[in-house]
Amino acid sequence: MESKKKIFTTAPLPFMGQKRKFLKQFKPALENYSPNAVYVDLFGGSGLLSHNVKALYPDAKVVYNDFDNYRLRLENIDNTNQIITDLRAILKDCVKDKRVLGSYRESVLKRIKEADKKGYVDYITLSSSILFSMKYVQSYEALEKETFYNCIRQSNYDATGYLDGLEVVSACYKELFEKYKNEDDVVFLVDPPYLSTEAGTYKSYWKLKDYLDVLNVLDGTKYVYFTSNKSSIIELCEWIETKTPMSSPFRGSTTATMNATMGYNASYTDIMVYKYD
Ligand SMILES: C[S@@+](CC[C@H](N)C(=O)[O-])C[C@H]1O[C@@H](n2cnc3c(N)ncnc32)[C@H](O)[C@@H]1O
Repeated sequence: MESKKKIFTTAPLPFMGQKRKFLKQFKPALENYSPNAVYVDLFGGSGLLSHNVKALYPDAKVVYNDFDNYRLRLENIDNTNQIITDLRAILKDCVKDKRVLGSYRESVLKRIKEADKKGYVDYITLSSSILFSMKYVQSYEALEKETFYNCIRQSNYDATGYLDGLEVVSACYKELFEKYKNEDDVVFLVDPPYLSTEAGTYKSYWKLKDYLDVLNVLDGTKYVYFTSNKSSIIELCEWIETKTPMSSPFRGSTTATMNATMGYNASYTDIMVYKYD
């Protein structure tokens, strides 16, 4: 008999910004869409949304846009488990959640350096085992500068079957949107990065313009869009809707900028926007 497939309710490896807490609302929302639609997860991140769509609708085509190369981390999961097993042994006499000092710290660094010399190391996952909660680094050099804490998890990571049935691609969301926008019955999953402040472990830095550009993919399409009140994007759209004609108050204006310096190394840009007809 075929064993029942595991449905992941959290990403198998740590991923900042995963929609774990939204699944409770996301799954019932999916029931409004067809089981045979094409689902395109434009900002796939950890793939958690794609995975859950596929679990609910096994016959649907689900495209997971793995822009961050999360699959590389998944492919290296055995290696990561091995390092963590060794770190567990090194830290067995250290108090849980407390600082790791002296020779314990040296041994942790030594083990990781050894792994780094051999090839790929998943620093994001290791971070969640030895750094203060929510702190992530991406390289050995960055790790060396951090204070360590003993937050090693007791069980190994497991991603068996996580990507099964998904079509994995890696592209800018704009390119992917162009490819699918005219297909029949497409549903776009749209979960862009947070505005610049929280882009910590992602590859890029998101400005307001990037954030607003994403709104183009919502125009006349079926979608599930995620945002937060921090970005005020919905409030902004509602405000724009009350304006006639629906255009920016800056349309047709001209911008001039002036760089100013304050003291030794601080500088800022003055912007003047003007309109004359
Ligand atoms: C909020 S996260 C998505 C989280 C995902 N829904 C999950 O549950 O794991 C946004 C993702 O978009 C990615 N990203 C950034 N720029 C992108 C681009 N131009 N095209 C596609 N993805 C991009 C980020 O690297 C990040 O992985």
